[in-house]
Amino acid sequence: MRIENQNTSQPICFKNFSRAVYNSRKIKYGGSYNLQEGLEKGYIKHTNNSWMFRPGLYKCRDMYSFISNTYRHESKVNVYDYGCSLGYGTYSFILGFLRRKNIEKYFPVMAKDYDKDIIEEAKKYTLPLQYGELYDIKKILRQENINQFMSLKDDSEKWQYIAYPTDVLKNKVCFSVADIRDDYENIAPINSFIMATNFWPYIPQDDKIKLAKNLYYRLEKNSYIKIDMFDNNQKYLNGSTPAETLLLDAGFKKTKIENLFKK
Ligand SMILES: C[S@@+](CC[C@H](N)C(=O)[O-])C[C@H]1O[C@@H](n2cnc3c(N)ncnc32)[C@H](O)[C@@H]1O
Repeated sequence: MRIENQNTSQPICFKNFSRAVYNSRKIKYGGSYNLQEGLEKGYIKHTNNSWMFRPGLYKCRDMYSFISNTYRHESKVNVYDYGCSLGYGTYSFILGFLRRKNIEKYFPVMAKDYDKDIIEEAKKYTLPLQYGELYDIKKILRQENINQFMSLKDDSEKWQYIAYPTDVLKNKVCFSVADIRDDYENIAPINSFIMATNFWPYIPQDDKIKLAKNLYYRLEKNSYIKIDMFDNNQKYLNGSTPAETLLLDAGFKKTKIENLFKK
């Protein structure tokens, strides 16, 4: 069973913004749901939940060293964040890099999501935060003196903090609507670092197999794909294949960084 949006006849995209009251008030389909049941019964197309410095991704210092070392001789690196949602992961990636030299070559990060509503929200540059995220950001802001990148506000009416990226940070990201299943054709084959995290279980099995192969044939030298724990998590795969297996079967090779694969 698939529930249709009465206005557009599009499948309803359930948004899990229970963690972000601010957005659940603004987004049409906010509210809670049972993810596993929703996936099994087919009424959930995807969720948009994300947050700053998601552990499997951005608390991984080795990843930044790995990237810096890999691209040390390159003057331009193409960074993509597919399934970017509001951009928490994209901003985390950028903030995580600030400590390093010669970083402008990584920007702007091409942040893409196939959900039009979420890209519209992302372009408002308003990020509701949980306490843990606030703590992480403050730690970085203090250490690196980067408050030029984000201002933090206590929105006491809504019982939460909000981060507003400044123009300096906004200029390092370019948001657009795109489905990775077609858009892989727009990825630069060489020197591309692609974040494709925490959405593979939402893609039907046949499409996932095709996607892994298409990415493999599209990419060339010095290109990488990063996935995350959710993409391999049996609990949500509903019998379909983990992204790691699909990427390896397509020909990608593991790297020393967890869930990072090399063409
Ligand atoms: C659970 S969120 C993950 C957000 C972020 N990547 C992270 O790791 O925190 C999944 C996002 O992927 C997007 N998505 C799902 N399938 C997609 C596809 N085929 N192409 C582009 N975006 C997709 C959804 O719209 C949603 O915003």
